[in-house]
Amino acid sequence: MPAPVVDARGVNLHLRSGGTPLHILKDVDLALAAGEVAAIVGPSGSGKTSLLMVLSGLEQATSGHIEVAGTDITTLNEDRLAIFRREALGILFQNFHLIPSLTALENVALTLEIAHPAMAWSEISDSAAAALADVGLGNRTTHLPSALSGGEQQRVGLARAMVGRPRLLLADEPTGNLDQETGAHVIELMFGLARERGTSILLITHDP
Ligand SMILES: Nc1ncnc2c1ncn2[C@@H]1O[C@H](COP(=O)(O)OP(=O)(O)OP(=O)(O)O)[C@@H](O)[C@H]1O
Ligand SMILES: [Mg+2]
Repeated sequence: MPAPVVDARGVNLHLRSGGTPLHILKDVDLALAAGEVAAIVGPSGSGKTSLLMVLSGLEQATSGHIEVAGTDITTLNEDRLAIFRREALGILFQNFHLIPSLTALENVALTLEIAHPAMAWSEISDSAAAALADVGLGNRTTHLPSALSGGEQQRVGLARAMVGRPRLLLADEPTGNLDQETGAHVIELMFGLARERGTSILLITHDP
């Protein structure tokens, strides 16, 4: 059996809010194989986003074992974590986190520029344009985030998360702002990545 892409065991996250201790994640175990797609489902406030943050190293677990794409991320410093994310992860954030001063195309292209400093701009720009076309935004490439609808921003975020062909895609409510048809399309796109590229996908959703 190949090693799982996500191997998390006994993960706990304690946070503090105004002096009150909060136990957000309680002994979470999670394994995800290459090409496997899993959904995290649960009520608002149950810790779904927190789990993604911990698996990406953006939030530090209080305890537990977390191995992602063969790397024990609990031992990495911030610089190493940044490199790990750049090389292994694509993340669609719940509130997108697009860079406001960059166009849709530039937001997507930036991922590739950082990951592949030697890649020619024409190649980066073509890949970014193709990723935007995949999510139905081929005619919105020069828009700034402020000139895009919520669902369009969400799809730019998804294009950015997918363009680098990550081993693990973490997607926080990827269809949350989309109509049924557009949502079905982006879900099919994500499952296609899993089938064709062996991308593992962990997605948070309220959509059965
Ligand atoms: N930095 C923080 N400090 C204190 N409490 C926090 C912090 N971040 C999150 N929480 C709390 O942790 C709990 C889980 O939050 P989280 O964002 O993971 O929920 P969620 O399941 O993603 O919810 P939703 O479906 O609404 O997005 C919430 O009760 C939240 O208030
Ligand atoms: Mg959330």
